[in-house]
Amino acid sequence: MASNTPLLADGNNPTASAATFGCVKEAEGESRCALTPDAVKGMVKDGYKVVVEAGCGARAFFPDDQYKLAGASIASRAEVIRASNICFTIIPPVEDFPKFKGKTVVGWVGRLQPDGKKMIEQATAAGVTLVDVTAVPRITIAQKLDVLSSQAKVAGIRAVIEASHAFKRFQAAEITAAGKYPPSQTFVLGCGVAGLAAMGQAKAMGSVVRAWDVRDVSDQAASLGAGWVKVDFKESGEGVGGYAKESSAEFQEAQRATFHKVCKEVDIVITTAAIPGRPSPRLIEDYMVRDMKPGSVIVDLAALGGGNCTVTKKDEIFVTDNGVTIIGYTGLPGMMPGQASAMFAQNMLNLVRHIAKKDATALLTNINKDLEAGEAGDIIVRSIVCCKDGKPLVMPKPPAPTATSKPKEVAKKEEVPENPLKKRVGECDYLHDCHGSPRLHGSRC
Ligand SMILES: NC(=O)c1ccc[n+]([C@@H]2O[C@H](COP(=O)([O-])OP(=O)(O)OC[C@H]3O[C@@H](n4cnc5c(N)ncnc54)[C@H](O)[C@@H]3O)[C@@H](O)[C@H]2O)c1
Repeated sequence: MASNTPLLADGNNPTASAATFGCVKEAEGESRCALTPDAVKGMVKDGYKVVVEAGCGARAFFPDDQYKLAGASIASRAEVIRASNICFTIIPPVEDFPKFKGKTVVGWVGRLQPDGKKMIEQATAAGVTLVDVTAVPRITIAQKLDVLSSQAKVAGIRAVIEASHAFKRFQAAEITAAGKYPPSQTFVLGCGVAGLAAMGQAKAMGSVVRAWDVRDVSDQAASLGAGWVKVDFKESGEGVGGYAKESSAEFQEAQRATFHKVCKEVDIVITTAAIPGRPSPRLIEDYMVRDMKPGSVIVDLAALGGGNCTVTKKDEIFVTDNGVTIIGYTGLPGMMPGQASAMFAQNMLNLVRHIAKKDATALLTNINKDLEAGEAGDIIVRSIVCCKDGKPLVMPKPPAPTATSKPKEVAKKEEVPENPLKKRVGECDYLHDCHGSPRLHGSRC
């Protein structure tokens, strides 16, 4: 096994060799890491050398030994920076940019956001090539290297786990000697990657799920077993680039009346509606929260942009006077660091494979070729490289997103999924045997 393989003599001069990849420890407060042992294994197999900073995966429970077994060298931060051509990070370490002069730093930049723009200026000034993994276009071929999708998936699932913990009641229906208990009711607002993941998780835990989005994706909700909430007003919410657009004042009025009604009925609300670069749309108002049942929970995944709920406090959890828990955490993927890192690192491996096209020695030259080829160059490369050789690069116009399937007509009417407790009372499917194990799917007493 290639543990402690010798490093390239100088990471600034890769010439015809395959590149050397680095991975540095993230700043305090970031528990994910950009490369995992599995991803390292794939990179080493493809012909790259990999050097990781000692302890870089510790917070995500990947010990140095696992990286060594996967073929990486373990080194100090200074050595990682010196020896690597391309350094993978979750959050690019701006304070180290001068040390990365002439090299490439890959990470979560957000090139269209104010903070991302500032980071690009700093990288440009330091002579660093900065790659923004969040700028991947929303086309099918790019899905496997899209960190926005992978991290949103983790956030959606963790949101339900957090909600469940704060709810402090059963999620699934139960009929026990100590009484009958209905399943929880969950309302998911925004059916992008995070919303769909939340629906699947809530459903898997036994909750009865309803959903809504400005885009009619009722067929996707139905495929996850969720009902669709209908706002009685006709307007398409589909915008450009796969993102939603902002809706009219009249529509928002009808929407508020619907959400008020649904909020009174449900136990858990998960909001995920975001319009990139703009404040999060306000969907749940304080009067709706006041009318929610005591003990119910809102998890606001849009807290970073100000929240979908008017009372959300960014990065805080609190209970309102009427007993509603409001969760505004913005670092949910970091609360599942092993899983989130595994997905992020797999995205990085897929990115490398996409660019290198099976030839590890061609990775760096392919990036240059794609950038020099103008519109003929690979759209993924042109979208993610923010600056190179001390010059900022303009992000190309995003291509039209891959079309989603047309919603089925039948899914357009309001559907409230049947309470499985009501349906199954009289059968024994939800009864527990004397050991407390659920009897499922028709096993009779
Ligand atoms: N590579 C790809 O093809 C790719 C990658 C990622 C996402 N996508 C698709 O792009 C779409 C958006 O996904 P996302 O997770 O990035 O979304 P997002 O994070 O931009 O937004 C989350 C959801 O909130 C919804 N929303 C926005 N404003 C709203 C409002 N006022 N009220 C209610 N809902 C509102 C959006 O329509 C979206 O579904 C999805 O269809 C997804 O499947 C495609």
